[in-house]
This record gives sequence, structure tokens and C-alpha cells, in this order.
Amino acid sequence: MNIFSSFFPFLLLCFLTSLFSSCFAGNVTYDRRSLIIDGQRKLLISAAIHYPRSVPGMWPGLVQTAKEGGVNVIESYVFWNGHELSPGKYNFEGRYDLVKFVKIVQQAGMYMILRIGPFVAAEWNFGGVPVWLHYVPGTVFRTDNEPFKRYMQNFTTFIVNLMKQEKLFAPQGGPIILAQVENEYGYYEKFYGDGAKRYVTWAANMAVSQNIGVPWIMCQQYDAPDNVISTCNGFYCDQFTPNSPNKPKMWTENWPGWFKTFGARDPHRPAEDVAFSVARFFQKGGSVQNYYMYHGGTNFGRTSGGPFITTSYDYEAPIDEYGLPRLPKWGHLKELHRAIKLSEHALLKSEPTTLSLGPSLEADVYDDGSGVCAAFLANLDEKTDNNVVFRNVSYHLPAWSVSILPDCKNVVFNTAKVGSQASVVEMVPEELQPSVASPSKGLKGLIWDIYVENAGIWGVADFTKNGFVDHINTTKDTTDYLWYTTSIIIGENEEFLKKASRPVLLIESQGHALHAFVNQELQGSASGNGSHSPFKFKKPISLKAGKNEIALLSMTVGLQNAGGLYEWVGAGLTSVKIEGFNNGTMDLSMSKWTYKIGLQGEHLGIYKPDSLNGVKWVSTSEPPINQPLTWYKVVVDPPSGDEPVGLDMVHMGKGLAWLNGEEIGRYWPIKSSKHEKCVDECDYRGKFFPDKCLTGCGEPSQRWYHVPRSWFKPSGNILVIFEEKGGDPTKITFSKRKTSSLCSHVAEGFPMVEQESVSKVGSGKSAAAHLKCPKNTSISNVKFASFGNPTGRCGSYSKGDCHDPNSTSTVEKVCLGKNECAIELTEENFDKGLCPGTTKKLAIEAVCS
Ligand code: GAL
Repeated sequence: MNIFSSFFPFLLLCFLTSLFSSCFAGNVTYDRRSLIIDGQRKLLISAAIHYPRSVPGMWPGLVQTAKEGGVNVIESYVFWNGHELSPGKYNFEGRYDLVKFVKIVQQAGMYMILRIGPFVAAEWNFGGVPVWLHYVPGTVFRTDNEPFKRYMQNFTTFIVNLMKQEKLFAPQGGPIILAQVENEYGYYEKFYGDGAKRYVTWAANMAVSQNIGVPWIMCQQYDAPDNVISTCNGFYCDQFTPNSPNKPKMWTENWPGWFKTFGARDPHRPAEDVAFSVARFFQKGGSVQNYYMYHGGTNFGRTSGGPFITTSYDYEAPIDEYGLPRLPKWGHLKELHRAIKLSEHALLKSEPTTLSLGPSLEADVYDDGSGVCAAFLANLDEKTDNNVVFRNVSYHLPAWSVSILPDCKNVVFNTAKVGSQASVVEMVPEELQPSVASPSKGLKGLIWDIYVENAGIWGVADFTKNGFVDHINTTKDTTDYLWYTTSIIIGENEEFLKKASRPVLLIESQGHALHAFVNQELQGSASGNGSHSPFKFKKPISLKAGKNEIALLSMTVGLQNAGGLYEWVGAGLTSVKIEGFNNGTMDLSMSKWTYKIGLQGEHLGIYKPDSLNGVKWVSTSEPPINQPLTWYKVVVDPPSGDEPVGLDMVHMGKGLAWLNGEEIGRYWPIKSSKHEKCVDECDYRGKFFPDKCLTGCGEPSQRWYHVPRSWFKPSGNILVIFEEKGGDPTKITFSKRKTSSLCSHVAEGFPMVEQESVSKVGSGKSAAAHLKCPKNTSISNVKFASFGNPTGRCGSYSKGDCHDPNSTSTVEKVCLGKNECAIELTEENFDKGLCPGTTKKLAIEAVCS
């Protein structure tokens, strides 16, 4: 075989995969400044997209939207418990088709960072480690423990071999340039005594001995061994230094928002602050930055951890849960990435000089004297805007912002000036439509099939015991549900039988949630929350003379996913008492309890479309409302159009949902307290923390549940709901996620980052408003336009006392009928003589259709 023929397939692959930038064939090495790929230094902007948090049908679009957003690397964890269902039994189907995902990244010409872990945290059930491993005798997770290390090594090797076999590591021509072992173990070492250090060294050596040809990283590992690179996670990492002068400064998790828990408020991190943190990182010599998450997606089925993590893992990421770019965040970061890209050459060529330009004012200049020069000017003050003089030019720096000057002269981007478009996104409801394949049609045309669970033991009990068992040790997480049942005999002479006062049921549980039934009737519910799983239940109950059945449905809401020795955290009941008897309180904690794991419907698999399980569904056009423990099944058509779909469950209680046997996941529109603090406007200035800017007080933490379009068939879609405590299924709708308006709000003097090359920077363009409609749509209506001093937000702008009356007609002339338009804030377009002495703005709200 000659050289050409042996290289030809590779060259062809290179050609096909390198249309953008990367033809991966080389080594990946590093020094203190950066990764060196194919002999070239790189600054890398990476986007975390977790493959099982969306569906394969969405992957190419998500990766493409990341690429359009100026990202050149995709990063994902590998989810051990999704892949190794029982020891040695692997799953790479559907959402778990890791190879397919990595190849999509490769085809997009992007790099990949694979965080194998295999412990991942990630708000994912049990931190990604299979629950079965906890029950392998003698196992302790994440320490110098033989069974744990053996299974961890097996899985890591399995994944590495799979990637090698598919030629996915960079030296093989693949996209993977970095791999991660473990995850933030540095925080938890103290819980593991002497075993911790031995484990870290073992993990690093085990990883390195896999010979993958690319470096291994460990995040938040202050004592990372020399053969792996320690990296930073946090809202800011500009002050981070790796634990050796030979390692580059990398940021594996920049959190552009935050996750949500059931019953809690909605966190928001402003785009200005995310951009500030990234600009600061590159200003201070960083070379790899990853957004965790860039697309958060959905915790389908029972994959969420926490406990109490919502089914949505939207994360307020640059791409929203449904796959749409989140504006203006996505666009603002895109412009930031362009500004960094324009500066890349200078940043990688020279050492920075740090200059103080005044208190809290700082410049870093990358200038090696050869004419290639980039500078970052930062105002770290949390309140005060400032003017600075840099190289004899005066620059205005808003508080808490960084300006990027790719030629050391012209500002192309300031982190606090958001010039990119914003949007109003709505969930537009559409009633469930009976499918043409429905056997017959009810009042609204819908026929519901109903199946009701027994409140307590169904079939044969699993076991009986005096006292309580731990919930998780009993279900082993095969289900969320565990019935604890007992009975009591009430004498006829109990006073409460005669009086209006009722006995009170007192329950203590380690978590996570509970519904209490007496004689088949729901008495009440209680639950812990994302910051504290244990809870108490206290409610008057109805008892009768004679025998009373007490049936307590204990539930988990995702298993613990992080913390020292986290796998030992338990759940379930610890105390049950009834107060109010003639001779005081009855303690049932040591009584004989009979247990049943899971629901009958789960056991029968009645959510599976083709299950011939002999379930006796009852058909009705008027489904029961507010009835606990009820399964609902309905056959529907897909919602019209092609927008992403969310199932609106605001009128339901708590439970699980499936479409065509695919697990939508847990739903629970539980509200956050209306007495907590929420903000209208978030001040981006000053350090961010998850509780800084919360909204949604008194509203459900999660109302809509993503149902991927690819799960729908043209007709005959089977929607199955299991409702635990009661709701109104006739009010369930599919809601379509629609961008109803696009907006642009820019001021005179806003920096422009349109230039593709640094030589064109400063070519004298004025600030401009840009609008770009989604593919195949165009601007059909200009709802608002004002050049002057308009105020408000996208969707609610209003004119100020300074307003050019021709604003709307000017914008209409340029934009109507166009997919995309740009209007410069120039003399030709607007009356610049208006209200002299003020900086004027242009605000536009437009509709695309
Ligand atoms: C980090 C962890 C991630 C994720 C994140 C919060 O500590 O490494 O896996 O859990 O916190 O979203």
C-alpha cells in the first residue's frame, strides 16, 4: 500500500470535516498559555450540551446554533447510569447514543471535551453513578475503595475504547481534545480521610494509562497530580491559577444561569454579567472557557437529581430548553466571542502588561511591539461608570464592564452594552385534539381511559416489618414510590368520634414527599425542598370506629447528586404518631408496617403504547377531576405547526407523564412562596450568586414540560398521565413555544463588532439596530419604533419626551418584508438634531411571520 492510499481516506475525512476550521489529526499538547492543537495555539470557547438532556433529532440544530453563536467546542459529561443499566449491560440507544452525538460535533467541524467522570454531579440522578453500585457489597463511592475503583475503571475503559474504536480522539482524526476524570472532588476530599489522596492519584493514573493521546483534566482539584490539568468552575474564574506553572488556565464551568428546584423561585443571571466574567477570564490569560450549560435541556423521565431538581434543566442558558436561542443572551455572547476571536492572535502571541487606570480600573495589554496588539479595559467598580484614558484616548466604561480593543484602539465590544436583539417568547396553548385514530369521540371530542390505583397495597405485599425501612434502600430507585401501610383499631368510646375535633396525624420523614391516605381517602400531602429534604406532616384526619387503614405513599424526587458520602443519604418515614385519643398519643413508629414497592400501573407498564397488559381501562368522555392515584390515557393529534411543544400541567397536582411510551418526566406545578423576595429588574453590576435575581414568587417553579417534536406521530399519539393527588386533566394543553416579537435597543456610540478581521476594526461604522427573524420568516409588522429616549423592555417599550416622529416609517422602509435588516443611527435615517446634548437611542419591536 503506498502512502497516498493509506492516507487518502483520512484526507477525505479531513476535507469533509474541516469545512469550518478543524481537521483533527494531531497531538493535543499544552503549555502554561494554552492548548496546542496540531501545533497551533488556540483560544477555545466551549458549550456544554448534555446529549441525554435532549433528543437525537435536536442534536444537529443545537450544535449548529452553538457554532453560529461563535462557539468552537462542545462539552458533555458521560452519564454512567444511563449507559450501564446493570453491571456489564450497556445502553447506547436513543438519547444515550454518545457516538452519534460526538460525530455530529465532528461533522460541524467543532472540537469536543468529554467529561467522563464517571461521577458527574450535574443535578443528575445519583450524580451519574449507577444506583446498583451502591448495593455491591463493600462499596464506598469516590474513595480508595476496591469495588468502586474496579467499576469506575471498567466503565472509563469501556467509554475510552468505544471512542477509540470510532476514531474520535484528536490524534485519530476525531474531535475530542480533552477528557475529564472525576468532578470537583477537591471540595469533598475532607470527607474521605486518607483514602482521598490515594484515590485522586489512582484516578489520575488510571485515566492517563488509558493512552488517549489528549490531556486529562480534573476540575476544582487543587492538588491535581502533575499528569492531569486542574481547572476552575464558578461564576468567575479570572483569579484562578492552575496548580502548576506548566498548566494552562481553563474554565470548565461558567454558569450562565442556574438550575431550578420544585417549589423554588426562578434564578436569572444577566447577559452583561456573563459576558463580563468571560471577558475578564480572557483578559487575565485564560485560554479555554466552557459555558455550563450552553443548552441545559430537560431531565426526562426520572433522570433529575438534587433531590427536587425540576424536570426542566433550562438553566437560563444561551439556548433555551426548547432549543431556541435565548435573546439577548445568545446574541450578546456571540458578539463577545467575535471580539475575542479578533483579539486571539495578539492574546496568544504576547505576554500581557497590566496597567492601573485608576481605582478599580484596569487594562491588560497584549502587545509584543510587532504591531499586533489587543487590550481589555475593565471597570471593576460595582456602581460607578467611569472614563479612562488609555494610550491618549478617552474611553467610557460603564460600571462592572470590560471593553475589548482588538487593535488597542477601537472598542468593538463592551460587556455592559447589549446591542444584540432581544425577544418576547410565549407559550401559546392549543387544546388537545382527538386523534383521527381515536376509536370514538367524547364531548370535546376526547375520550379518556381511566385506571385508578388502590390507595395502599395492591396485589401481594412485598414484605412486612415492625418499624420503618429506608425508602431508597427498599426501592433501589426502580420507582419513585413506596407504600408504607398499617391499620389501627379505634374503640367506640373515643371522644373524638362524638366531637367535631379530629385526631391529628403527625409524620416525620427524611424525604422527599408524601401523600397520606386513611381508608382510601387522601388526607393531605407534604414535602421537603431543594435545600432541605426532611419534612414533617401534621394534619387532622378522619378516623372511624373499628378498623382503619393507614396508607402512606412516600416518594423520592430525584436522588442526591453531590456532597461528601452522598450515596448514604436516606429517605422515607422515621416517625408516625396520631394525637387526640382518650389516653393521649398513639405512636405507630414500631408498629407492623406492610410495604409495597411502586405502583401497579408502573408494574404493568401501562404507559407503554403496545403493552398487552390486561389493564382494565375505563373509557369516558368526562374524566374524573381532583381524584388521587389516577392514570389518564388519551389519544391525540400533534399540535399544529412545527414549534417546540410544552405540556401545560398547571391544573394538575403531581405525577409522571409519557407520550407514546417516551418518558416526559415528573411534573409538579408546586408554587414558590409568594412571601419571598423577587426582583423586577436585575442589576447586572456586582458579583452574581444564584439568589441574586429571582423571579416567579408565588408561581409554579415549572408549569410546562418539554415534549420533543420527534416523539409525535402524525396521528394516534398516546398521552399517559399518572396523577398522584388530583388535578383537572381536561385543562391539560400542549403549548407551542413561539417568538412573538423581536426587539433591538441600541444607543449612539454603541460599539460594533461586525468586522471579520482585525485590520477592518474601526472602519467608522455607526451604531446600528439589527433584527433577524427565524428561518423562512420575515418582518411583517413594526409594532414600535422610537429614536430619541424610549424606555422599557422588549414587549413594553414606550416613547420618551424626545422622539423622532418618522421613526416607524424609517424602520418600516428598511425592514418590512425582510428576513434580516440593520438600521444605522445616522443623520440620513434619523433627526440627530433632536434633544441636543443627550445620547439618543433607537428601540424597535417587530413581528416576524
Ligand atoms: C458543579 C458541578 C456540576 C453542576 C454544577 C451546578 O459543582 O460540577 O456538575 O452540578 O455544579 O449546576
